[in-house]
Amino acid sequence: MEPGKRLPGKVAIITGGASGIGEATAKIFASHGASVVLCDLQDELGKRVAGEIVAAGGSAEYRHLDTRNEAEWTALVEAVEKTHGRIDVLCNIAGIGSAVDPSSGKRARMELPGLSLDSWNQIMAVNAAGVFLGTKAVHAAMKRAGGGSIINISSICGIVGSFGNAAYNASKGAVRIFTKSAALQYAKDQIRVNSVHPGFVETPLAAPGLVGDPGKTRMDATPLGRYGKPSDIAFGCLYLASDETAWMTGSELVIDGGMTAN
Ligand SMILES: NC(=O)c1ccc[n+]([C@@H]2O[C@H](COP(=O)([O-])OP(=O)(O)OC[C@H]3O[C@@H](n4cnc5c(N)ncnc54)[C@H](O)[C@@H]3O)[C@@H](O)[C@H]2O)c1
Repeated sequence: MEPGKRLPGKVAIITGGASGIGEATAKIFASHGASVVLCDLQDELGKRVAGEIVAAGGSAEYRHLDTRNEAEWTALVEAVEKTHGRIDVLCNIAGIGSAVDPSSGKRARMELPGLSLDSWNQIMAVNAAGVFLGTKAVHAAMKRAGGGSIINISSICGIVGSFGNAAYNASKGAVRIFTKSAALQYAKDQIRVNSVHPGFVETPLAAPGLVGDPGKTRMDATPLGRYGKPSDIAFGCLYLASDETAWMTGSELVIDGGMTAN
């Protein structure tokens, strides 16, 4: 093994890889020797991230994937296994923070009781169903590889409630408990499934909530006194993807600057 590299020879699929936490995870995984397949809806950004990884000497390719689409998952897994011969790691990172109002095309109202069923379904489709579909799609390939690690990005919003966005909390709570059931059902195949629970991290998804009064409230509630960087979460994913966590499954890794310790 090359000294200091924690994922040599591993093949990792990373959803949401074009931006934020997914981008940071793809870059850190590649720097630790993984062959990274990053997927997203944002094709230009995704290709740019893959190009940056390759330019830095890593192995990466970008593939378009809508995580809500089961047929696209099937095609992706088939293509990755054909190209790389195996799949060792899946990071289900793709997510959305709010829904779009179909009539106005603008951000929908997310607070109860004004939250619409359509908005609820939009959030659940990406944040919960997308994680389910990915976890299902990689099973056979990981089993053929002799095991694997699935890392599902939940949130502290999957542990505690919030004033503003019940659908997001519900979707992240679903990821948290789905992860535990998948861990139990996949353990016999040496496929580990864990969830990661970030606090407030500076990414395009979280940016609107990190300024003004809501931002001040959140900062005041963060004992370590700063928002997270995408790499703070990516290093947690690195730990869960590596063989260092060979005896860890069904667990929750909270990375939140101490917010939920209070
Ligand atoms: N930033 C935070 O404060 C924070 C906190 C807790 C949890 N999270 C979670 O972390 C994950 C990553 O979010 P981020 O903060 O890096 O945001 P981000 O917006 O930077 O990245 C999310 C990525 O997911 C992609 N995506 C959205 N829907 C998709 C779909 N259907 N198929 C494929 N890709 C899709 C987006 O195009 C985007 O590139 C999300 O699951 C989010 O809920 C973020």
